[in-house]
Amino acid sequence: MLEFLKREKIKIEKEKMPQHIAIIMDGNGRWARKRGLPRSAGHRFGAQKLKEIVLFADEIGLKYLTVYAFSTENWKRPKEEVENLMNLLREFFDTEIENLINKTQIRIRVIGDISKLDKDIQERIVSAEEKTKDKKGLCVVIALNYGARQEIINAVKNLALDIKSGKIDIGDVDEDLFKKYLYTNDIPDPDLLIRPSGEMRVSNFLLWQISYTEFWFSNVLWPDFKKEHLLKAIEDYQKRERRFGGVK
Ligand code: IPE
Ligand code: IPE
Ligand code: MG
Repeated sequence: MLEFLKREKIKIEKEKMPQHIAIIMDGNGRWARKRGLPRSAGHRFGAQKLKEIVLFADEIGLKYLTVYAFSTENWKRPKEEVENLMNLLREFFDTEIENLINKTQIRIRVIGDISKLDKDIQERIVSAEEKTKDKKGLCVVIALNYGARQEIINAVKNLALDIKSGKIDIGDVDEDLFKKYLYTNDIPDPDLLIRPSGEMRVSNFLLWQISYTEFWFSNVLWPDFKKEHLLKAIEDYQKRERRFGGVK
């Protein structure tokens, strides 16, 4: 790693490492089109890239890595593409995640409304979460059928039920209490959000959680994303001044 940092002239300070990085894994389709391949090939390379970046993030001591894998809006895609993505997901859990479970200290978490996914996929998710729940390495949070607006509405509904039943007093509702109703209740907010592929938008990802997150955009397509890009994003992040509304 050190050699690599020197070669790339990247300076990373250990004390200023972000603890949580979120990535919108975008650009698989365009990557495939550029090569005259079907979109499914782009997704396949994208999944391999995810494995590589997860291992690297663990190696450099990151605590949380959240990745956007399938949004609540992605159901709008052609049936064939959705089916292909779901099959790829099955395969990813059976091979790559199984491998991570057996060989690393990585913890797996899934956020999103998984009740809309096929039963067998739900089972794979629950099993991976269960098997890794006490692990102490990198926590990989996979956003599946995730939409931030859906997450917030779901939280509001559950909170309303608790107020109605008398479990919660409305006067006690504040940011900390509301957070408990989000999928990310036990996960710190991201310090850094990375979106490759040239799009400069959030696409319904973690709206509540990114209030003070630093953004990093790049034109690189997700299947071409390299360790260097992650390190460059961290280096840039370390040069930012996070003020959280205050003054320095
Ligand atoms: C991201 O790549 C993967 C998913 C959204 C599932 P895209 O499929 O969005 O690729 P582009 O944006 O069309 O290139
Ligand atoms: C966001 O990418 C969702 C994922 C990467 C899973 P999209 O490709 O769906 O987003 P838009 O449509 O460009 O906003
Ligand atoms: Mg896209």
